[in-house]
Amino acid sequence: MAEVAVVTGSTRGIGFETALALGLSGYTVVVTGRSEQAAVAAARLLGERGVDAHGHRLDVVSIESVQRLADVIARDHGRLDVLVNNAGVAAEWDAPGPSRYAHPESVRRTLETNVIGVFHTVEALLPLLRRSDSGRIVNVSSFMGSLTLQSRADPADMVVPAYQASKAALNSLTITLSKVLADTSIKVFSVDPGFAQTDFSPINRAQAPLTAAQGAEPVVEAAMLKIDAASGSFIGRDGVVPW
Ligand SMILES: NC(=O)c1ccc[n+]([C@@H]2O[C@H](COP(=O)([O-])OP(=O)(O)OC[C@H]3O[C@@H](n4cnc5c(N)ncnc54)[C@H](OP(=O)(O)O)[C@@H]3O)[C@@H](O)[C@H]2O)c1
Repeated sequence: MAEVAVVTGSTRGIGFETALALGLSGYTVVVTGRSEQAAVAAARLLGERGVDAHGHRLDVVSIESVQRLADVIARDHGRLDVLVNNAGVAAEWDAPGPSRYAHPESVRRTLETNVIGVFHTVEALLPLLRRSDSGRIVNVSSFMGSLTLQSRADPADMVVPAYQASKAALNSLTITLSKVLADTSIKVFSVDPGFAQTDFSPINRAQAPLTAAQGAEPVVEAAMLKIDAASGSFIGRDGVVPW
């Protein structure tokens, strides 16, 4: 029976490419986004490429929405093998006004989606992952969340406070979750996709060196356990990323 993967935020960008690559490798993929219509449309696109894809609405910020998705997966598939926590925003790019350091509304939206949303998703889907013989949780992080890289003295480094704090917190979640699951077969990874051409920020399409499909590669490798890293690791295209 095909393994089942959920990719949060897979209507476009790295999430869509992750769902496509997993689907082409034989996974049944559950494609999600805040709009039911967009999720169903993305699943239809994947279906046209021969993927067994199912589109469902998911807003990771809403506990009810995440629990509804868990109920649907339990009903339709009975278990979950791979959870890719990909949904993310960098709300500082479209802050509703000027700020001295970080606009409060951008901070709230960024942390709610990138951190609290992952806590919600893990909480709701863990019982289904426990039914898998070898569950995997891949948290799509960023090199910008690395405290080691954040604290180096390089004036060229971009400072995006809430986004960077959100990915550092997500990395902490990877570590603590891997410890909680240490006595199970479920493995947890943080993965940096690299700088990729998506709608993520106004500069991504113009400046990023990687295509969204290339950004998805290390995410997919972690999801398929094609990596040489222990559970609780932070990896990227070139191997381990410093915390
Ligand atoms: N692109 C890069 O260079 C880069 C670099 C490092 C890390 N990352 C990380 O990679 C991940 C994907 O980014 P991307 O570049 O592919 O961005 P993107 O093209 O903007 O896609 C973001 C996805 O997240 C979904 N999403 C946003 N808020 C959501 C919510 N509350 N609930 C559910 N889904 C939500 C969006 O779906 P809807 O809008 O349809 O709901 C969309 O599918 C993010 O976690 C980002 O931090 C990206």
